[in-house]
Amino acid sequence: MNLMNVDYSTKIPNNVGLTEDRQVLKALEGWHPGYLDWWNDMGPEGFQESLVYLRTAVSVDPKGWAKFDYVRMPEYRWGVLLAPQDPDRKVNFGQHLGEKAWQEVPGEYRAMLRRLVVIQGDTEPASVEQQRHLGKTAPSLYDMRNLFQVNVEEGRHLWAMVYLLQKYFGRDGREEADDLLRRRSGDADSPRMLGAFNEATPDWLSFFMFTYFTDRDGKMQLESLAQSGFDPLSRTCRFMLTEEAHHMFVGETGVGRVLQRTCEAMKAAGIEDPNQIEKVRALGVIDLPTVQKKMNLHYSLSLDLFGSEVSTNAANFYNAGLKGRFMETKIEDDHRLTNDTYPVAKLIDGRITMVDEPALTALNMRLRDDYTEDCAKGVERWNKVIEKTGVNFRLELPHTAFHRQIGEFKGIEATPKGVIVNGAEWSRQRDNYLPSKSDGDFIESLMTPVSEPGKYASWISPPRVGIDNKPGDFEYVKIENA
Ligand SMILES: [Fe+2]
Ligand SMILES: [Fe+2]
Repeated sequence: MNLMNVDYSTKIPNNVGLTEDRQVLKALEGWHPGYLDWWNDMGPEGFQESLVYLRTAVSVDPKGWAKFDYVRMPEYRWGVLLAPQDPDRKVNFGQHLGEKAWQEVPGEYRAMLRRLVVIQGDTEPASVEQQRHLGKTAPSLYDMRNLFQVNVEEGRHLWAMVYLLQKYFGRDGREEADDLLRRRSGDADSPRMLGAFNEATPDWLSFFMFTYFTDRDGKMQLESLAQSGFDPLSRTCRFMLTEEAHHMFVGETGVGRVLQRTCEAMKAAGIEDPNQIEKVRALGVIDLPTVQKKMNLHYSLSLDLFGSEVSTNAANFYNAGLKGRFMETKIEDDHRLTNDTYPVAKLIDGRITMVDEPALTALNMRLRDDYTEDCAKGVERWNKVIEKTGVNFRLELPHTAFHRQIGEFKGIEATPKGVIVNGAEWSRQRDNYLPSKSDGDFIESLMTPVSEPGKYASWISPPRVGIDNKPGDFEYVKIENA
């Protein structure tokens, strides 16, 4: 069997030889109906009978892995796809450095590995749940299609993690797989495991910010799991990353198109001052200070996903060879880190201070720094969009101490500039830093659906190019094709 190509003859498309792996196939087929129930209950609201122009992975060859066609979402071929195996692959870091990569779960690391897979797996269906109401207010068919593409791929990522659980973790793996369908984003009794995945995604600007900032956390986590000495996890994550790139594209271009539209409308109306919020809003576009506040919110929530800056868990994962650093194999050092330090931002005597910590326990901080750097590049591109229109405004990532629920700064209040303030002052200023109720109401008032091909809502510019090079008036979703 050619492992580059995907076997579509089974109910579960795959390139892992499921037909010859009866036990795992049976377990996955047993899980499948529950997954479809979950999709019907918690997947996109409405549009389940519509024909959506989606890409489906047909290969794991980076040169041509996807095909585009109209699909009804419940009929999407969710599959198990792993990047090709490299027979010479080694463990590239930690105390097993240089050993042959593991094809089976090392007994001593079983619990740790299962935890890593479950945490990653839990985020995938969570975002689908968070975004399920958005189809109804899509600003165009193009955007609606992108939303659904992200949703079906997050569903596939769940499949990817469930395959690992079913194949490598026996009975407790099967229980974890069932629990992934049981938890619900924002549920009081059985919420999703991580904070940002229990927040609401109430509008499309939130959706774009989420796919830019929170999917990018996903990218960083997948990048470090792709370094894993446990080869099946590495191969799974490597293929997920090819899909993930589109999710962040949706976020980056989405926010960029909002900025473009706002700035053009301001220019056309002769508004020079971006802080004339009411005047700008009267044009039916989202004012730039509100975009900044949305960014403050989603960036700070996403920073929490990296966990505590100093973490013995992170050190243990690394030592064990289970979770590496971003670009591990490109870094020039000993890949053991036993004698290294890394600067960590800490709260000491009420001040934010950089302190050298052992590099092993500072791995979360390091990954978060890599993340921040990655985020900042797109923010610069957004600023270019604004600059080109001649509007005088710059977006800025808030300080890492701002609005944090996890880690060093969870006990303090800091402004977006990183100035520590008392609780009363924070409460007075809060609505200048984060979206207020009335900001939310205003954005919601703009969220009227546009479903005519080639047309866009007042608050967002059309994209520069279509998906799969389709023309501007292409019907990305055939809504009435029930
Ligand atoms: Fe994902
Ligand atoms: Fe994603």
